[in-house]
Amino acid sequence: MQYHYAGKGTPVNVEYADMAKGENGMSIIETVIAGVGSYLPENVVTNQDLAKKIDTSDEWIRSRSGIGERHFAADGETSSDLAAKAAWNALDHAGLKPRDIGLIIVATVTPDKTFPATAVYVQEKLGVPPGIAFDLSAACAGFLYAVNIAHDFIRTGQVEHALVIGAEKLSCFLDWEDRATCVLFGDGAGAVVLSGEDSQTAREPRGILATYLSSDGRLAKHLYADGGPSSTGTVGLVRMNGKEVFRNAVEQISNAVFEVTERAKVSRHEIDWFVPHQANIRIIQSCAKKLELDEDKVVVTIDKHANTSSASIPLALDAGIKDGRVKRGELLVFAALGGGLAWGSTLVRY
Ligand code: ACO
Repeated sequence: MQYHYAGKGTPVNVEYADMAKGENGMSIIETVIAGVGSYLPENVVTNQDLAKKIDTSDEWIRSRSGIGERHFAADGETSSDLAAKAAWNALDHAGLKPRDIGLIIVATVTPDKTFPATAVYVQEKLGVPPGIAFDLSAACAGFLYAVNIAHDFIRTGQVEHALVIGAEKLSCFLDWEDRATCVLFGDGAGAVVLSGEDSQTAREPRGILATYLSSDGRLAKHLYADGGPSSTGTVGLVRMNGKEVFRNAVEQISNAVFEVTERAKVSRHEIDWFVPHQANIRIIQSCAKKLELDEDKVVVTIDKHANTSSASIPLALDAGIKDGRVKRGELLVFAALGGGLAWGSTLVRY
């Protein structure tokens, strides 16, 4: 392998970068999902457990959201701890080592510290050599924003292998006085290794086929944390207008799926698996109905994980792969909406 340096300290494989430019005429780099992994903290908190602490019931939470239980991280366990464990599992699945990784993006709204990025702590914990590492804040759509950015780094030949991680410790900023919101969230992390693959030598066509992202700051008031370093000097607590979030989620998640299928010129009926953000079973079911997708084509983990924001899609994807439902070569669509409001979708042949 021949390497040169793009700017300070970022090694670029020259053959790989040339391939991205298509210098041999036809080669194009596809971004493929080389590996998937996840991690959930040990502590499982059921709806019944919550009912001992606040005025709620298993029946109310299940019927309104589909949630049965969630995982909460231990005191002292940080988002980078969860992220690093998920990332190790994704690296194992991809058959790669930390030294192969040139880019780490952590999508999170619960960073270990205001700065530096949680991604550099993950880099340190995994022993990834100096390279590009940063965080991304797009709430529940963060994983899809991060996938899109990593895809651009890969297809332009800047890095060959990237770790994209969604990691959240949402339990650290829930308002236990707001029972309509605090019962919905959980902690966890999910990760994918995205790799560049020469379209000419690939055994079969696969990889990211289309992506779509959007945000609308006029809707920020519907879902946010009421604190921040430059406003209150505190972290704040989650605030949500549930009805508005619900309405926008159904509309924009469905539209986002229409967008990517149109961009890739594939029929929605070719989709093997819809892997949506796990916010609420009623949102997921309404989207599936609008998209005319059978419920048995939808990966649902909300009953076990609750809403883990940016971690929920890679957590659901990993669950679907581990239980044997999601197989190589299948057509997957990811879609999410969250704080911002920000939303997006990714169509990928796994
Ligand atoms: N347990 C028992 N009762 C409750 C609880 C609770 N945890 N929370 C609220 N209630 C009560 C309310 O006090 C109210 O009682 P009242 O009629 O006597 O006043 C009643 O239940 C209905 O309250 P609403 O807030 O109107 O409940 P709603 O039916 O709208 O459901 C919910 C609330 C579940 C949040 C719903 O709006 C929703 O699903 N929104 C989508 C938001 C979402 O999924 N957010 C996730 C984060 S965002 C994202 O990831 C996309």
